[in-house]
Amino acid sequence: MSHDLGLLTVVAHHIVVIDGGHTVGTGAPDQALRAPLATLTRRLVRARDLGTALAATGLPRPAAPGSPLHELPPHPDHGGPMTDRTAAGGAAASQDDARAVLDSLPGTLPRDEILAINSSASDIHTTRTYEYNGWAFTLPPGVFKPGDTSRIVHDRLLDGTIPVKGRSYAAMGVGLGVEAVIAGTLGAREIYAADVHPDSVATAAEHYRRIVGDRPDTVFRPLVSNLFEEFPDSPRLDVITFNPPAVSTRTSDDPTVVRNVCVGAEIVTRFFDQIVTRDLLAPGGEIYLIVSNTAELKRIVGYGMDAGFRPEILHRQTWEGDDCQAYLFKLIRHDAA
Ligand SMILES: C[S@@+](CC[C@H](N)C(=O)[O-])C[C@H]1O[C@@H](n2cnc3c(N)ncnc32)[C@H](O)[C@@H]1O
Repeated sequence: MSHDLGLLTVVAHHIVVIDGGHTVGTGAPDQALRAPLATLTRRLVRARDLGTALAATGLPRPAAPGSPLHELPPHPDHGGPMTDRTAAGGAAASQDDARAVLDSLPGTLPRDEILAINSSASDIHTTRTYEYNGWAFTLPPGVFKPGDTSRIVHDRLLDGTIPVKGRSYAAMGVGLGVEAVIAGTLGAREIYAADVHPDSVATAAEHYRRIVGDRPDTVFRPLVSNLFEEFPDSPRLDVITFNPPAVSTRTSDDPTVVRNVCVGAEIVTRFFDQIVTRDLLAPGGEIYLIVSNTAELKRIVGYGMDAGFRPEILHRQTWEGDDCQAYLFKLIRHDAA
């Protein structure tokens, strides 16, 4: 079997377990197959309808633009090729489902594993280049170069899974500006390109000007801001994305690395607090947050739930060679669920 379907095939006394197009177990139905079968069963049992059942198997859904089932280049910080899997949890339709999503999340990795995952030498103080979707970006010193987690968000903006056309959109922690460029290209109504780092905002604005240019139906708003502090009152945002520097362990003493990678969970709890206390979301507004188990994943999602948001896992990604798991969440207000 080679297609992308979580499937148990019994041929005589031989079992093959395929998950997301990858063989995760093979051989006699003995101890060796228990773990992959348990994982697959949990995912299928959680599926409440045909749509989520399909998502749980990893089978692409024609209605969902750009199924996440594809291979991406290896992460420079990870050991081998990575698997890219569809959401495990599905929509959190009720408070109980949201609790189940929270319970399903892995704990934070031990410090030594986090350090090993983030061990590559930093070239953050050099000028670098980056290419995405045929667009060329230049990164001055201090500006974050996108990694695999960035790509999860960028790909889903580009394929419309995160819908921005005609909407008011805030790219929080915009870095070099890929999110803003995609949103401009797709015709967002208004784009806040926000970052606490002035050079990142200037870089994002330059890339936007060069790649997107003036568009009559889009207002571009570059903003140096500590989270939403410099946002106007009542921006009524339809979509917010954030790839926060939430890694729980200080991977470096360099403040530039800390700002880009490992501020910790507090940056996300403040993010939720500001959205709520300043009522920044439009009715039906959506937050797209990417966090991995190198951060305090459960605490972050639990905090978001307590702040009034209901999480849905849109995508989970793992890598060969380590236990890192990255989750893309969509969060909407409880009262809008
Ligand atoms: C992991 S990088 C993500 C960059 C880009 N969005 C991407 O995915 O490639 C985190 C970004 O958050 C920014 N950042 C850190 N603290 C911030 C804060 N308090 N307010 C706004 N942005 C912040 C950093 O400067 C950096 O650009």
